[in-house]
Amino acid sequence: MRLHVNIDHVATLRNARGTTYPDPVLAAEACLRAGAHGITAHLREDRRHIRDADVFALRGLLRRTGHLFNLEMAATEEMRGIALEVRPECVTLVPERREERTTEGGLDARGQAAMLGPYVKSLQDAGIKVSLFVAAVPDQLQISKTLGCEQVELHTGEYAHAFGTPAAATELSRLAEGARFAHEIGLEVAAGHGLTLANVPDLVKISEIVELNIGHAMIGDAIFLGIDGATKAMLAALGVAA
Ligand code: PXP
Repeated sequence: MRLHVNIDHVATLRNARGTTYPDPVLAAEACLRAGAHGITAHLREDRRHIRDADVFALRGLLRRTGHLFNLEMAATEEMRGIALEVRPECVTLVPERREERTTEGGLDARGQAAMLGPYVKSLQDAGIKVSLFVAAVPDQLQISKTLGCEQVELHTGEYAHAFGTPAAATELSRLAEGARFAHEIGLEVAAGHGLTLANVPDLVKISEIVELNIGHAMIGDAIFLGIDGATKAMLAALGVAA
């Protein structure tokens, strides 16, 4: 199991005051020192948190340290240009709407297949692994495979919402079935969105899931534990030795 820390909300805090601190790159470095396997950042069209300069600085850091960079982005021409320049190890394609507070729902890979096919290939031709952020439904997983993606990231937002209620078990089994199906058809399975120290232990029982992308809750935990402590606590919750 790999933990990729999403450091977007360090930039949210920085941007709230227009300062240069807290620096998401320094936060990323601290996460890696504490045992995280990689860093995830979402460059949004409106640049509300991570900015272009952060992406380039993260690229430099992760190349120096030899860790994985997962760049989340919408499948637009502008983002493709940036990805081809930055060359992260992985690009995760996500749906993006300006008015949303955070990524809501998975990508409609089936509905956008005609556009996504060549888009995915153009990134792969540059040596970038491509992951699609999709709901754990067979049709979306199958089309992700057909489009040639190496990985899918299962949207765990509904499970996170349901956590602590009787509906959580249903959401968890939906994720487990999706993970099993994706694995069977040859996709690597990641998961993310809304994951916390409390809800992650049940999720990691799904053995097909090999990577988690976790941001908001960990940056929140860092207020109390420090970013180092938050990373170590999450690794412990995942059952991974730091
Ligand atoms: N994975 C994807 C594809 C996302 O879009 C996000 C949010 O940017 C995350 C993981 C992290 O979600 P959270 O901040 O809720 O942990």
